[in-house]
Amino acid sequence: MDNLLNGITKVQALDDVMASPVLVRVDFNVPLTEDMKVADDTRIRNALPTIKLLKERGAKLILASHLGRPKGKRNPKLSMIPVGQRLAELLDHEIIVTDDCIGDGVRGVLSQRAEGDIVLLENLRYHAEEKKDDEMFARALASLASVYVNDAFGAAHRAHASVHAITRFVHTKAAGMLMQKEIAMLEKLTDKPDQPFVMVLGGAKVSDKIGVINNLLGKVSAIIIGGAMANTFLAAQGLDMQASKVEKDKLDLARNILKRARLRNVNIVLPHDLITATEIDESAQTKIVKAEKIPTDAMALDIGPASIEAFSEVIRGAKTVFWNGPMGLFEKTPFAEGTQKIGSVISTSGAVSVVGGGDTVRAVSEFMQSPFFTHVSTGGGAALELLEGRELPGLEALRERRPR
Ligand code: 3PG
Repeated sequence: MDNLLNGITKVQALDDVMASPVLVRVDFNVPLTEDMKVADDTRIRNALPTIKLLKERGAKLILASHLGRPKGKRNPKLSMIPVGQRLAELLDHEIIVTDDCIGDGVRGVLSQRAEGDIVLLENLRYHAEEKKDDEMFARALASLASVYVNDAFGAAHRAHASVHAITRFVHTKAAGMLMQKEIAMLEKLTDKPDQPFVMVLGGAKVSDKIGVINNLLGKVSAIIIGGAMANTFLAAQGLDMQASKVEKDKLDLARNILKRARLRNVNIVLPHDLITATEIDESAQTKIVKAEKIPTDAMALDIGPASIEAFSEVIRGAKTVFWNGPMGLFEKTPFAEGTQKIGSVISTSGAVSVVGGGDTVRAVSEFMQSPFFTHVSTGGGAALELLEGRELPGLEALRERRPR
């Protein structure tokens, strides 16, 4: 099988960047608190190896990222300033945040920089052209540097100017270390994973996971399904889910997945028991019930203890586990146990364990005291698209082609 990194230069190979301006596209799309502090710096920490490598080699570093969805307008609530502050703390080094990401002002700041200096450009998405993969905007960004490095795995599924069009206007382009690590780890799941390979899926929507199920159905021995997604599968088997969240328009899709899994001898493991409540609240009165006996007007909001045990047994027998999606409404304490316990079983199972998806990663960073996952992906959508077998535009654009 083709290695997805074939034909792509690695940042480690750039040994002649002393005093060169190097533009590094990072994914610093991080959550901010009300008082404009970085709430979770995982993505920033994961970009440090590439930043440190280039800094040590004497590059003049220019970091560029999007933050949130400002819809092409300046929005002080989505400024990169707090990100720059957190990066400065992590590196113990001054970070200059520019007022914009292109233009004369930015050029002025860059012209005064010395080797090893780090500049962080203001939010790329203040310009609508970024999301439009606009050529002029891409040229303007490319003109800031002589070398381009893409380390933004989390944005690699977006054909946006700073990850896609820009590669046509730079002479040297390379993949950063995070990008390489993410691709290599996720590729392990699609290319001869150690068997048994168990996929643990949760979250709200069957439709979000259908691409991954389709692509990996021939590679897994079992698919464990929790979260609201499980409600749709249980309803597809004829169970009355009462007031639970069910994707009614996906019942046929769920039946089709169950049928195809049976034909391929893939064990689909659904919850036998559930934690139910009539309200979604920190003080909600919960009941443990059998899946076929949900009380009238109650909602299934987490998997029950018997399901935790059954899921755990399958996970303990696995050599490879991919986990995407919480087992319940983990944001509320009464419904957090399923996600917490399954996360802990995966992390201590001894299997190669890969965690992907925004909510799952958030759950991991909230609950896990000592995570022993093999890899926690920084990309939600990007990880899923890669596992769906789709080409990531940001990766494809890094393959060698002659610049225009
Ligand atoms: C993400 O958080 O998944 C990436 O940063 C991409 O962000 P987007 O979904 O706003 O394009």
